Amino acid sequence: MLRELFRTKSLDRILADAAEPGQQLKRALGAFDIIMFGIGAIIGAGIFATIGTAVAGDVMRPGAGPAIILSFIFTAIACAFCGLCYAEFASLVPISGSAYTYSYATLGEIVAWIIGWDLIIEYAVGNVAVAIAWSAYFHQLCAGLGWHIPAWLAVDYRSAAQAADISGLTAGSVDPAVLLAHDAWLHHPVVAGIPVIFNFLAVSIVALITWLLIVGVKESARANNVMVGIKLVILAFFIYAGAKFVKPENWSPFMPNGMSGVWVGASLIFFAYIGFDAISTAAEECKRPSRDLPIGIIGSLLICTVIYIAVALVLTGMVPWQLLGVADPLAAAFAYVHADVSAGVVALGAVVSMSAVLLVFQYGQPRIFFSMSRDGLLPGYFSRVHPKYRTPHITTFWTGVAVAVVSAIANINEIVELTNIGTLFAFVLVCVGVIVLRRKEPDRVRAFKTPWVPLIPLLGIASCIYLMAGLPWVTWVRFGIWLVIGLVIYFLFGWKRSKIAT
Ligand code: ALA
Repeated sequence: MLRELFRTKSLDRILADAAEPGQQLKRALGAFDIIMFGIGAIIGAGIFATIGTAVAGDVMRPGAGPAIILSFIFTAIACAFCGLCYAEFASLVPISGSAYTYSYATLGEIVAWIIGWDLIIEYAVGNVAVAIAWSAYFHQLCAGLGWHIPAWLAVDYRSAAQAADISGLTAGSVDPAVLLAHDAWLHHPVVAGIPVIFNFLAVSIVALITWLLIVGVKESARANNVMVGIKLVILAFFIYAGAKFVKPENWSPFMPNGMSGVWVGASLIFFAYIGFDAISTAAEECKRPSRDLPIGIIGSLLICTVIYIAVALVLTGMVPWQLLGVADPLAAAFAYVHADVSAGVVALGAVVSMSAVLLVFQYGQPRIFFSMSRDGLLPGYFSRVHPKYRTPHITTFWTGVAVAVVSAIANINEIVELTNIGTLFAFVLVCVGVIVLRRKEPDRVRAFKTPWVPLIPLLGIASCIYLMAGLPWVTWVRFGIWLVIGLVIYFLFGWKRSKIAT
């Protein structure tokens, strides 16, 4: 029994299965597309929304203050260790299953299943957070343009109920997201006695992106390239225009909550970096995966780190750090200095950036399901490829439905922390996998080799565990429950049907 649980799938068999007729995706992406995919996935809700909480924190867990820059640097270093490990695997096993497939080849089926299940948290649950943040920024952008979308179509019921009474908050300092939720609570229709409050905006953007992904990967990549171009221009605008309002006294005290604030900030802002690993799910649609995937992973991580540090410096220089704990901190910074047009430009940038993140994550999740189905761990129905578009349309559709439904009713804060813990866990196992595979198959040709193995993977493991430890215990509990549900499904379904058992 134990042997069955830890059975591995050889690299040769993984590659042969992926080459079977009828199971091939269209190879349409080059190195440029891949780097753009990376930036598309990375820059989004993290820098436009989560940074606010990471800087200001809350009563229970004070944030980093201006020292958020240190949180960004620490997190970038941790991601670089893991990115190097991902790059080695992506060049060695260019299969769309990403960390799931790497674990199948090295650590055994049960670990692979756990990772596949865990990646749902990174991709689908992460996208729920991004869709919710998108809807808040989109609503605000429309309001700025004079188009009024009813608040009850832009928030979830629980957020509205929590904002029912805001009389205790100081006028003028209330987060616009709370005001929106309060508005929804006061003015919503009631159908058959049931209050109607749900995030229709989040549902709509997920539906649109799902459709785009079904009709074609090249079309999606084109849309992504345009969105990435826009987000880079707007962040450059933020840095340039915001720099004029920087007051160095805002950077002092630099570390108001000491190293523990930096740690809390890092464990939250990790969300901003998630996505470089999502590139690896494009392996089967990449023209030269062994070369382009490492370039894409390391390249996009480097570019985004530089941008993040510059944005963080300007942001904390513009506004006293205590005031940044809002849902739209970058736009709020311009509003704070009365540059309202610039605030509108930033809100537009946020909407476009998050659309690109949604696109890449909605792209990644179905490909992981697709790989799991091809291995027999999920029903075969999920590995069907569309006869005309050659996309995994079944899994794309169902991922879209699940993300849309949950984002209509979920609350963002809990979701970001859950996404972080799930992703960090996947990173740990990828680092472990590199060490294991170097021992098991030392002679296999690796187009990209992680330097200083086992030191770099070990540092990756240690830094991920350190970031996980910075998350609240309730997140650990939720994560544990999620894994237990996954194990039950595995024993009921995947274990017996696994193709390597046959
Ligand atoms: N890194 C992605 C974002 O910040 C998940 O939206």
